[in-house]
Amino acid sequence: MPPPSVSLHLHLLLLLAAAFASPTPALSKSTLESCSSSTACPALLSYTLYADLKLAELAALFAADPLAILAANSIDFAVPDPADRILPAGLPLRVPVPCACSDGIRKVTSVRYVSRPGDTLASIAASVYGGLTTPDWIRDSNGILDADADAAVDAGTRLFVPLHCACFGGVDSGVPAVYLTHVVAAGETVPAIAKRYRTTANDLMSVNDMATADVAAGDIIVVPLTACASSFPSYTSDVGMTVANGTYAITANRCVQCSCGPGNLDLFCVPAPLADSTCSSMQCSNSSMMLGNFTLMMTSAGCSVTSCSYGGYVNGTILTTLTTSLKPQCPGPHQFPHLMPPPTSSFFETYLGPSPTPMPSEGGVGPQMAGMAPISSPPVNSGPPPSHRHVGDVLALLALCLVANLLW
Ligand SMILES: *[C@@H]1O[C@H](CO)[C@@H](O)[C@H](O)[C@H]1NC(C)=O
Ligand SMILES: *[C@@H]1O[C@H](CO)[C@@H](O)[C@H](O)[C@H]1NC(C)=O
Ligand SMILES: *[C@@H]1O[C@H](CO)[C@@H](O)[C@H](O)[C@H]1NC(C)=O
Ligand SMILES: *[C@@H]1O[C@H](CO)[C@@H](O)[C@H](O)[C@H]1NC(C)=O
Repeated sequence: MPPPSVSLHLHLLLLLAAAFASPTPALSKSTLESCSSSTACPALLSYTLYADLKLAELAALFAADPLAILAANSIDFAVPDPADRILPAGLPLRVPVPCACSDGIRKVTSVRYVSRPGDTLASIAASVYGGLTTPDWIRDSNGILDADADAAVDAGTRLFVPLHCACFGGVDSGVPAVYLTHVVAAGETVPAIAKRYRTTANDLMSVNDMATADVAAGDIIVVPLTACASSFPSYTSDVGMTVANGTYAITANRCVQCSCGPGNLDLFCVPAPLADSTCSSMQCSNSSMMLGNFTLMMTSAGCSVTSCSYGGYVNGTILTTLTTSLKPQCPGPHQFPHLMPPPTSSFFETYLGPSPTPMPSEGGVGPQMAGMAPISSPPVNSGPPPSHRHVGDVLALLALCLVANLLW
């Protein structure tokens, strides 16, 4: 549970007004976080593709970076032309968004939608944005008066689309967390949602200030995901970066990638696959070490670990810090969260077929990065992770990827 100072929850019956005005469906509940700080914080939206969409189109819907979407879903972002990939309808994804504070409430304020022929406020809210907003909220946010949720919106109308998000100070029960907005599906229960996101029903109820475990389709709740926190100074543009366990984030103008887990919850950053000569130096000063490199030295007191880590992004400059710490034992090579190949429409149909390939149990599939000291473990690669391919195992991995996605 987030600390009380940042967890003023309000349960609002968002559709209350509409219930009197027009024959809208049953009232939905949503968890809102009140706020006063003007700084945005990182949040995730749980979103299921309503149609086959190019990654670039999906990214445009949410004003998000296509690579950041892949990274947040542990999907390989080093593939050629990722933004042109077509993602299949029905694919569940996590979309990383800045969660702003506006009118005293946390919400996504960066999303604009240009309506297409046949759109209605109801279809935009429920279908295009998967229930992460409501027709009334869109209407109120755009100063549209007495428009029927089911009336056609003029094609080409540019709408501000507010979406639910929360941060609760980036902690849950004292542990770093990133909050994912989830729209309850028909038949879904609180224990099932808790299981899907590896949390507990009690925690979900407490975070969402629920007196009972009753939820209905269309309710919006927030789910805390265990994460790695950053400690970048406040003048950095990526201050407050928080990466959910098992996933990646892209930062510093696509020059740096950071990951969290699976072995520990220390944020680990290395040069991104797209990093090129336009990126500022990623070498720690007074050292030959690059971002992500580390050296190990056995001393009588234990293992002295010196690492070159990422310290945030300021005005085009990548900050690095060289730190030395003493550990009882030398850590092995760094393990990265497993990366999946991008799913595509045809793959998805294959998966929906009679019997999906069983999940291979590959614990440390991702490539590993060694420090600079000799280590006694087997040979490891030291390139950045997302260039790794498993050519012979594409179908199995595919199933793994989709199963993993569906299990969230
Ligand atoms: C992080 O995720 C890994 C799987 O990716 C899991 O084994 C581990 O328990 C998780 N850690 C925490 C603290 O939740
Ligand atoms: C580099 O190391 C030298 C000597 O060890 C020290 O005098 C200097 O201040 C260091 N420079 C930086 C930028 O840390
Ligand atoms: C970034 O650059 C601008 C203009 O060059 C400068 O005013 C500002 O102080 C810089 N910010 C930081 C944190 O260095
Ligand atoms: C140090 O980091 C760079 C950038 O990730 C990498 O290319 C290099 O292989 C690393 N060196 C060692 C010895 O791990």
